[in-house]
Amino acid sequence: MAITPNPHNTTGFLGWIDDRFPLTKIWKDHVAEYYAPKNFNFWYYFGSLAMLVLVNQILTGIFLTMHYTPSAEDAFSSVEYIMRDVPWGDTIRYLHSTGASAFFIVVYLHMFRALLYGSYRKPRELLWIFGCLIYLVLMAEAFAGYVLPWGQMSYWGAQVIISLFGAIPVIGPDLVIWIQGDYIPSDATLNRMFSLHVIALPFILVGLVIAHLMALHEVGSNNPDGIEIKKNKDASGKPVDGIPFHPYYTVKDIMGATFFMIIFLGVVFFAPEGGGNFLEAPNFEPADPLQTPEHIVPVWYFGAFYAMLRAVPDKLGGVLVMGSAVAILFVLPWLDRSPVKSIRYKGIIVKTAVMIFAAVFLMLTYLGTKPTSDIATLLARIGTIYYFAFFLLMPWYSKLDRTKPVPDRVTDH
Ligand code: HEM
Repeated sequence: MAITPNPHNTTGFLGWIDDRFPLTKIWKDHVAEYYAPKNFNFWYYFGSLAMLVLVNQILTGIFLTMHYTPSAEDAFSSVEYIMRDVPWGDTIRYLHSTGASAFFIVVYLHMFRALLYGSYRKPRELLWIFGCLIYLVLMAEAFAGYVLPWGQMSYWGAQVIISLFGAIPVIGPDLVIWIQGDYIPSDATLNRMFSLHVIALPFILVGLVIAHLMALHEVGSNNPDGIEIKKNKDASGKPVDGIPFHPYYTVKDIMGATFFMIIFLGVVFFAPEGGGNFLEAPNFEPADPLQTPEHIVPVWYFGAFYAMLRAVPDKLGGVLVMGSAVAILFVLPWLDRSPVKSIRYKGIIVKTAVMIFAAVFLMLTYLGTKPTSDIATLLARIGTIYYFAFFLLMPWYSKLDRTKPVPDRVTDH
């Protein structure tokens, strides 16, 4: 039976495939003939780097899972076995554990870029929301993974975080037992963290990343000028300020990936624990339910949220503040009322607000990873108030700001 020839006129093996599967169509639509703005800068590397780190986490995770034992009895020693006896086991573990921190560094920079250039605004609201969901799942994924070595910080970190659910009125205490599968973090808890970490959450994460990229390709990329390149097309229907993703940005992204790998592998080989920031010292001691570590602090990437939690004296209040700090990101597209998208054309008010926001977030991150003191609590409270004011007052100050005129065509700075 004859089948309709594919519209790309490909022949041979590729033609055989194209007659049955849209391979060349996908390649053209999403790579070779996907037009991206020609003025991408440094900040546009981090999306492809996030994909690179995601692949690293999945590949190294597969090999770790081959040798790891998910039981409270054996988990710690199986990790030691990976470190000492499994060929290349230490390298694979460090690629994964340092990879977790690299993931958050890359994703935070990626999110900050969106904040700088207004990439969350119409028509990219859904792209942004998929991003926020990715971030949420990434946090859950990192938390579940951190429990797996069943060291002191795994155990007590799990205890502190899961017990937060206990602050929820009425159902809280039962919920904690349900999540843990026991009255304290135990074998049951470890097993469910394992299944969430290696299968459920990665599945969701990959699905969300695909949705994120589909949304991106539907609306097209924003750029440092915040100009919609689709509004200005030539006679053949191509955006005048666009260039094909391949070869221009494939080459650029490969260069970015090379630089990234040099730095990343430098850390993996020479400072894999990141001075106790990527793998904390108490986690090299086996979990002991009878002995609390002197200070229970999260890994750096949760620092800002943990600082906000501790800044509130009431437990339920703290949990609500921490949850709202993530939730508020979802509505950002509707808070920004500025007539322009990119920070380049925004006025002094928004520019100052964004810069202080970045500094405050870094300060909170630092405070969250350190033991508390009176001055630290005071700073965390000021930081928390600023964090929320930045978002909640945005509808007002973004309108008040004196913006500059946006050019018709993208510029090369
Ligand atoms: C696994 C994590 C993620 C991956 C693999 C990923 C991937 C990508 C890629 C490849 C791009 C296009 C290239 C670029 O603009 O850099 C992109 C764009 C974008 N991403 Fe993500 N992303 C991730 C997480 C996030 C998060 C957490 C957010 C925000 C909360 C976010 C928001 C955006 C936005 C707004 C754009 C469009 C930017 C623009 O066109 O200016 N992404 N993402």
